[in-house]
Amino acid sequence: MLIRILGAAAGGGFPQWNCNGRNSAAARAGKPGFRPRTQCSLAVTANERDWVLFNASPDLRQQINETPALGAQADGPLRNSPIKAVVVTGADVDFIAGLLNLRELQPFSIYGSARVLETLAANSIFNVLDPSVVARRTLAFGQPASIEGAGCDTGLVVEAFPVPGKVALYLESTRADDNYGSREGDAIGLKVTDAASGQHFFFVPGCAVVDAELADRLKGAPLVFFDGTLYTDDEMIRQGLMQKTGQRMGHISISGPEGSIASFAPLGVKRKIYVHINNSNPVLDDNSPERQATEAAGWEVGVDGMEIRL
Ligand code: MLT
Ligand code: MN
Repeated sequence: MLIRILGAAAGGGFPQWNCNGRNSAAARAGKPGFRPRTQCSLAVTANERDWVLFNASPDLRQQINETPALGAQADGPLRNSPIKAVVVTGADVDFIAGLLNLRELQPFSIYGSARVLETLAANSIFNVLDPSVVARRTLAFGQPASIEGAGCDTGLVVEAFPVPGKVALYLESTRADDNYGSREGDAIGLKVTDAASGQHFFFVPGCAVVDAELADRLKGAPLVFFDGTLYTDDEMIRQGLMQKTGQRMGHISISGPEGSIASFAPLGVKRKIYVHINNSNPVLDDNSPERQATEAAGWEVGVDGMEIRL
């Protein structure tokens, strides 16, 4: 199985179009050590021919153009695509807006939780992906699903599980005491298995806390891509960017006693890679002390184009 990080940044990307904060300004100026990143997505193949995307970011067109294996193949028919399916982990703009780049009557399948597929059904713009051409398939929790699309079995099996998190920003209610209307299935994690080899990894790009259930699930895993949105819960407030904490947005922090470094420390995960990294996060500076602390704790900071073979 080959895994490629198409994008490692959180919503807005890095640099973010309207941001003149320290990181974005440095990345925009091309300062060494501040590598730009597109919005969070993985591409995975079990057979080096059929690809499955994990989330479809607003940067998908750019990501496809930068990844020859994902574009129309020269030896194929007039219209063809190696992208056979897209699995989405939430209805956030950065996870689903790229679906609109996949219009043009190209058959593939979309997999997501019932909650997320309801959101797609309720937004008529997604009807450009005619359901008679682009199948929508519900991922039921705890039931591994063979990922199929455009008449082929991709050889990948995905198991979805709910994780602590939040409903998409544009669907929030005003009720803080109800987690803004969030329900099970608004944020999910995925276990992705190569059916032939049995090799597997986890993809959890949005998560508010590593609770006992998630810790149990991830224990001893060979590879986890995990929510690296913020380094500290209040960093966006302290940098004067926005009046929201990470917890308010449904995102765990990297540092701190409840953070992901501390939460993963006892789990024995072999390889741990942060993705969905917000433009405020100091780990985006290759030379920051926070970056050094993160790597010293055994984590990698994801970057576009990174490939892993399992
Ligand atoms: C998030 O990850 O919390 C969302 O992408 C935020 C947003 O929609 O801007
Ligand atoms: Mn996001």
